[in-house]
Amino acid sequence: MSRRAVIEAVGHAVPAKVYTNEELAREKGIDTSDEWIVQRTGIKERHICTGDEGCHSLAIEAGREALRRSGLQPSDIEMVIVGTVSGDYIWPSTACFVQDALGIKNAGAFDVSAACAGFIYSLANATALIETGVIEHALVIGVDALSKQVDWTDRSTCILFGDAAAAVVVSAVEGGDRGVIKTVMLSDGSGAPFITNDAGGTKYPPNCVAPEGIKYGIQMKGNEVYRFAIKAMGDACEKVLLEAGINASEVDLFVPHQANLRIIDAAAERFKFPSEKVFVNVHKYGNTSGGSIPLALYEAVETGRLKPGMLVLTVGFGAGLVWGANLIRW
Ligand code: ACO
Repeated sequence: MSRRAVIEAVGHAVPAKVYTNEELAREKGIDTSDEWIVQRTGIKERHICTGDEGCHSLAIEAGREALRRSGLQPSDIEMVIVGTVSGDYIWPSTACFVQDALGIKNAGAFDVSAACAGFIYSLANATALIETGVIEHALVIGVDALSKQVDWTDRSTCILFGDAAAAVVVSAVEGGDRGVIKTVMLSDGSGAPFITNDAGGTKYPPNCVAPEGIKYGIQMKGNEVYRFAIKAMGDACEKVLLEAGINASEVDLFVPHQANLRIIDAAAERFKFPSEKVFVNVHKYGNTSGGSIPLALYEAVETGRLKPGMLVLTVGFGAGLVWGANLIRW
């Protein structure tokens, strides 16, 4: 295909407040230890929203940085797509708040609900709109503030998450080999009970008398998700590489969803990616859900590990269950 969706600029936003494992345990009264968390997850610290910070403020800041770096005007952007499951409001969409705050007057705006795969799905939507000639430029953001949804009394989940946003400006480019090469998106709703936030929707609205066990906050069957994630990450990578006719050895940088170091290591092992080809920042941020993959891309660019022309493989999984992968010539 000669018309490609190319990532031209990146931006990011993380809350200023950092909690180490020890600080989190102390402040939130969690019966855990730095040793347990590092051993089981690789997470050492995470950024957590304070004060007025939230999903919208992070998304707007990340979007503003990406837009500024792209050199485009707000009026050039024709679509704002935000991958999130933790918008400040159930509706209207986070994308509409970003569109307004950044003065993007000539664009559609919508959210994508695909949890930790939100950025993969959002980028795929932008790519399709660009490749088919519907739009020229899109602002794509992955963001979550799951610290606002965790149950701080559940030590098996509350230690996993952090808050972050990251954004990319995607533009149509005719010719050349840069751009999104291939995407796969997959789902299995039968696994919905593995990661849920049961209350707050229309089935169990706020203030309703919910049945025993139904409450607002993330509930996760960690072991089931772990097993699913190991297989899903590998399968999505295999499928996208196969469909693109590209060998894993040709990948220059592997950027997996940053949920758990053991899950990342298992995926890297399956494709024999050496450690210098695997981007990891889960130790600094924890699982930032929709923010995770674009934040990793942002840091890879900033640290010089990701340069134009490199072949990048991103892969993510999350609540739904959903999973997917993007293969990108950066
Ligand atoms: N500190 C200390 N001990 C703990 C903690 C904690 N924070 N949490 C659990 N434990 C204990 C348990 O109570 C259990 O004790 P027991 O044996 O006496 O019963 C023991 O540690 C082992 O618990 P497991 O759940 O078996 O621990 P495991 O090694 O499986 O690690 C974890 C748990 C880290 C949650 C892992 O299952 C995991 O990473 N799963 C994947 C989660 C994920 O990636 N989710 C992403 C999607 S989120 C989204 O889409 C929004």
